[in-house]
Amino acid sequence: MRRRWNRSGRAGLVAAVAVLAAPLSGPAPAAADSVVVGGSLASVDDHPWVVALGSRDRFGSERSGQFCGGVVVGERTVLTAAHCVDEEVLGVALSRVPDLRVISGRDDLRSSGKGRETAVSGVRVNPGYDPATNAGDLATLTLAESLPASAVLPVARPGSAEEKPGSKATVFGWGDTTGNGTYSSRLRSVGVTVLEDATCRRAYPGSSVGRYEAETMLCAGDARGGRDACQGDSGGPLVAGGKLIGLVSWGSGCGRASSPGVYTRVSAVAP
Ligand code: ARG
Repeated sequence: MRRRWNRSGRAGLVAAVAVLAAPLSGPAPAAADSVVVGGSLASVDDHPWVVALGSRDRFGSERSGQFCGGVVVGERTVLTAAHCVDEEVLGVALSRVPDLRVISGRDDLRSSGKGRETAVSGVRVNPGYDPATNAGDLATLTLAESLPASAVLPVARPGSAEEKPGSKATVFGWGDTTGNGTYSSRLRSVGVTVLEDATCRRAYPGSSVGRYEAETMLCAGDARGGRDACQGDSGGPLVAGGKLIGLVSWGSGCGRASSPGVYTRVSAVAP
């Protein structure tokens, strides 16, 4: 279970902050997870609901302290992954992180002049979150100040077409584009397809990596591999048809054809 997030304290997290695997043209290389390249740049002007979670105190200033993603679902409400606010990720208990911020309107995390950083006044971890299986991986952040209504992304309804297998979706995140520690500071996105629950059930029957449970999880990726979220994208949005359907949660490696991405099924878990 500890291994699953690929975290080993602060240095481990920084090294693991990676982005979306490349939309490769052919099958993913065997070690796709160690060569995270490509993807394409996305703009927060087009997707104003994509936010970064940052703590300069914990993760340094260079990339605005980014360590996870999130998504604006209400003027004062941001959803992220429950595991993003775990001690395992933060290195200390959340109560000891003095400067947790939601960063909005900033494509390039190096340009601290653009966009805004909003303090978080409350964090509610989904009471159903199970770190052993990753079930229900969602936390709700309440912001100290409102964001514009234009930045709010609607959540898909349970069982809607957007979250059905075959639905075309896009996942967003910030991070490493080479796998060698060359961190992109700019927002990226990649297109994936919602896959059958059976595909993820087969891929993740239950191991140290996690166990797929369709009630609270959503399976998405590319049958050929190569298109995926990766470490550091956690908590960021998976969007289809203009609706939020998932949050980046977990997976085995990144971009492997046989190991799709697993997302929090927001329609089932969000309060
Ligand atoms: N758990 C990772 C994080 O904390 C996200 C992993 C997503 N992996 C994947 N293959 N889709 O950033």
